[in-house]
Amino acid sequence: MSGKVRIGVFGAYRGMTMIEVLLRHPEAELVAICDKYKPALEKAGKAAREAGLDIALYENFEDFFRHDMDAVVLANYANEHAPFAIRLLKSGRHVLSEVLPCETMAQAVELIEAVEASGKVYAYAENYCYMWHAFEMRERYARGEIGEVMYAEGEYIHDCAAIWPGITYGERGHWRNNMYPTFYCTHSIGPMLSITGRRPVQVTGFITQRNNTVRPLGLKSGECAGIEIVTLDNGAICKSVHGHLKREPGSINYEIYGTKGSMESERFTPSYAPEGQEPELQVYREGDKLCVGTTERYRPGPQPIAGEMAKKFSTHGGSDFYPTHFFIEKILGRPDGEKYSIDVYHAVDMGICGILAYRSALAGNRPLRVPDLRDKAERDAWRHDNKCTNPAVAQGDDLLPCYPGGSMEYPDSVYEEVRKIWLSGKNAE
Ligand SMILES: NC(=O)c1ccc[n+]([C@@H]2O[C@H](COP(=O)([O-])OP(=O)(O)OC[C@H]3O[C@@H](n4cnc5c(N)ncnc54)[C@H](O)[C@@H]3O)[C@@H](O)[C@H]2O)c1
Repeated sequence: MSGKVRIGVFGAYRGMTMIEVLLRHPEAELVAICDKYKPALEKAGKAAREAGLDIALYENFEDFFRHDMDAVVLANYANEHAPFAIRLLKSGRHVLSEVLPCETMAQAVELIEAVEASGKVYAYAENYCYMWHAFEMRERYARGEIGEVMYAEGEYIHDCAAIWPGITYGERGHWRNNMYPTFYCTHSIGPMLSITGRRPVQVTGFITQRNNTVRPLGLKSGECAGIEIVTLDNGAICKSVHGHLKREPGSINYEIYGTKGSMESERFTPSYAPEGQEPELQVYREGDKLCVGTTERYRPGPQPIAGEMAKKFSTHGGSDFYPTHFFIEKILGRPDGEKYSIDVYHAVDMGICGILAYRSALAGNRPLRVPDLRDKAERDAWRHDNKCTNPAVAQGDDLLPCYPGGSMEYPDSVYEEVRKIWLSGKNAE
């Protein structure tokens, strides 16, 4: 296509990140925003007006859907991306989806088929793949500097207890209260797959015990962590861990061990530290002699891609610019978009590891094969698989508990108290 890409944003909370990028991007035009929560919508509208744009604001998705636009950013609820993406693709719009790509295996199949049938661009906004340390590892791995992956670790440790009121608003049915421990897995698994370019073939899921010392905040799994042990298609093993473990600041780190060396980000500095203080990356490369090589330690900056524009965005370790930028580039047919934007197959690879890891954990940590849904012959086995913890999607035996031992149930007073804390603008203590 030629000219600016006309883009709408659905969900104005996390969606503000994409809105900020779109307002400054020379090849995009922000045309509409939708959020049913008026204060968020108004805040987004104000930012657009201050940038000199007169855009349409919608509280209702159906009205937003009818707006004339080429593409939509989905920053709505994390478990509802696939149904909206499928509808938008079928209507001829390109889609950039926030994490997660899908809530069920059936949605994974339907999403892939909608992308294939539409011929439109689907991009997955797993920004952690573009954090400076992760992006640098991807580029060095692609140059063959550490050989072929044998083992990797990815961790996204984020104890959200204090901010729980501000991200769940005291809503009993909020997706964050309803999710199971391995659902939110792509911040830790995604970069390991994007760095190595490999595909998951087997997953085993583990879930820690609950931390019962935390005051009740409405999370039905209870505070715990999810762990996925993933086998890659070359036989390498990855460990992914994410969730509510006690660590401040949180940790977003990756380690990749290859046949010729290793790369790892330094764990004591937060990934979102200010420029110049970001975590260091250590790269070991074996030379001609066994166990003798070079070790480098340095702070990787942004990749030499989109130069000055990328430097204007520092949030989430510098990563928040790239998903939107590569999405636009891919729509415009540019090589960077083709190369770096995360397509639907890779998005589903990342997401279904968490879905299947939970099945594995429920089955006593039984290893499960991860299907390659690029292969049409693999799809029928999953086409009608709606198992999840969302009662709006799964009924009867398909409705899973939020924790293997059963969901936690809380009285209304817990959610009322959390709502009060949210409205006061404070954190939980
Ligand atoms: N990649 C990251 O670093 C990162 C960080 C935070 C959140 N996220 C993702 O962003 C998404 C949104 O999360 P959030 O933190 O903004 O919280 P959230 O999920 O509570 O907010 C979603 C927003 O969408 C709006 N919305 C949802 N359904 C709607 C509908 N049918 N009609 C109108 N408005 C609707 C809500 O009012 C809300 O403002 C999630 O997918 C989450 O996983 C990603």
